[in-house]
Amino acid sequence: MSLEQLLAWIPPGSADLDLARQIQPDRLPQHVAIIMDGNGRWAGRRHLPRVEGHRAGIQSVRDVLETSARLGLGVLTLFAFSVENWKRPASEVSTLMMLLRRYLRSELATLLEHDIRFKVVGRVDGLAPEIRAELTDAERRTAANAGLLFNIALNYGGRTEIVDAARAAMAAGIAPEALDEDRFAQFLYTAGQPDPDLLIRTSGEMRVSNFLLWQIAYSEIYVTETYWPDFRRRDLLEAIVAYQKRDRRYGGIAPPVVAGVP
Ligand code: FPP
Repeated sequence: MSLEQLLAWIPPGSADLDLARQIQPDRLPQHVAIIMDGNGRWAGRRHLPRVEGHRAGIQSVRDVLETSARLGLGVLTLFAFSVENWKRPASEVSTLMMLLRRYLRSELATLLEHDIRFKVVGRVDGLAPEIRAELTDAERRTAANAGLLFNIALNYGGRTEIVDAARAAMAAGIAPEALDEDRFAQFLYTAGQPDPDLLIRTSGEMRVSNFLLWQIAYSEIYVTETYWPDFRRRDLLEAIVAYQKRDRRYGGIAPPVVAGVP
């Protein structure tokens, strides 16, 4: 998968093509993480029940996933259900779980077709057994895929993940003096994965909402006013173009500007 693949997929004359051509293939974010927000407000504006926003958001998931795979991103992480989301009305929670199961069943073929590896990040054992079984099955069936890694954050909390990692490190018998940042990261749900370069949040909220707290230490944050159900390929490409204009310094200093050198 590559930028050429993406360009070939976008219909000629589409505005997305101009946008895609602005992307520098050698400076792609390796890992993009997205807080999919605004489903409820999207539905409210249309005088629809909140769950209709979640239902509509599935099409955005499809579009963003396929765009990411074709573009050649390494990892895409979508925040689908937090440890705090259990506080929502039971009917909304059960609809979200139903949508997830339906999504897994209908999209498995797409995951295989695009060489996508599927992984759940979160406290999986807090999910219903029948959902766990389907998630595990999707992970197993896509395990040998070598393209995009698609993490879905489910029953996920950043603080919970750090506590789970600390417990796992203790259970593994790691001596306190042997523990450093790299070692600790091996006990996170995302062990072995690069940290997100780009964190996108839809619907205009300026919060990280307990998402990937450890991993986003140096992520570039991009917030769009667009509600998740309206987020499409074009919005992802816009975010990547904006990301590529950022100057990432990781706490260092900007390189000196040399006269005559762009
Ligand atoms: C936040 O919007 C969104 C969620 C809590 C759920 C996101 C889930 C989906 C898009 C569907 C399932 C996903 C997959 C991968 C199958 P909100 O409800 O908090 O919106 P609001 O802030 O406008 O109320």
